Amino acid sequence: GKQAIIAPSVLAADFANLQRDIEMINQSEADWFHIDIMDGVFVPNISFGMPVLEAINKHAKKTIDVHLMIVDPDRYIKTFKDLGSDILVVHYEASTHLHRTLQAIKAEGMKAGVALNPHTSVSLLEDLINDIDLVCIMSVNPGFGGQSFIENTYKKIKQLKEIIVRNGASTLIEIDGGVTNKNAKQLVEAGADVLVAGSYVFRAEDPIATIADLKKITEI
Ligand code: DX5
Ligand code: ZN
Repeated sequence: GKQAIIAPSVLAADFANLQRDIEMINQSEADWFHIDIMDGVFVPNISFGMPVLEAINKHAKKTIDVHLMIVDPDRYIKTFKDLGSDILVVHYEASTHLHRTLQAIKAEGMKAGVALNPHTSVSLLEDLINDIDLVCIMSVNPGFGGQSFIENTYKKIKQLKEIIVRNGASTLIEIDGGVTNKNAKQLVEAGADVLVAGSYVFRAEDPIATIADLKKITEI
C-alpha cells in the first residue's frame, strides 16, 4: 500500500546540535526535510535564514522542502535555489501574481508549492491547480511549532482532492501543523500525501522510532 511522505520540520530541532539532528533525519525513514523560513512580517515570528539553510544543505541527504512565510517571495526564488531547495512553497496570501511566481520557481528547476492559511479556501486554487506541484494546507496558523491541529483541515483536504482529480492534476497535498500519531492516518485517508511533523518528532524520546511509526501508521 501507499505510505505518506514524512517531512520532519527542522524548526523543532535543537539548533545548537543541528548537525546531529540532521544526521538523525538522514538515518531515519523520513522522506523530506521541511524548512520553515519566517520574516517577522508575514508571520509574527522570525525563524532562521540563508546561512542556516546553507549549513543544513551541507549535511541533508534528502529532498529539501522550503516553506516561505515571507512577504513578496519573488525576491528570493533564485537565492533559495542556490541554497539547495528542491521544493519551494510560497503563501497564497503573500503573492500578488501567483501564476507568475510558480512559473519562476519552475524555471529555476524546483517544484512549485502554494501554502494556504487556515482561513483561505482551497477553491481559490481551482484556476491554477495544474501549475502547482504541491499544496501545503496549514493545519495551524503559521508562525510557531507546537500548536494544536485545526479540525476543519479534513474538510479542506477532501475539497482539494476533488479539485485535483477533476482537473486531472498530479498535485501533492501536504499538511503542516499539529500532526501526530493521533491524526496521521485520518489525514492520509482524507487524501493527504505529505505530513510535516515538528514537535511530535523532535520532542519524542526516540525520534527515529517515531518517524518509523508515522510511516507505518499512514500505510493505506
Ligand atoms: C508553522 C510551521 C510548521 C511547524 C510545524 O508555521 O510552518 O512547519 O514547524 O510544527 P508542529 O509539527 O510542531 O506543529
Ligand atoms: Zn512549515
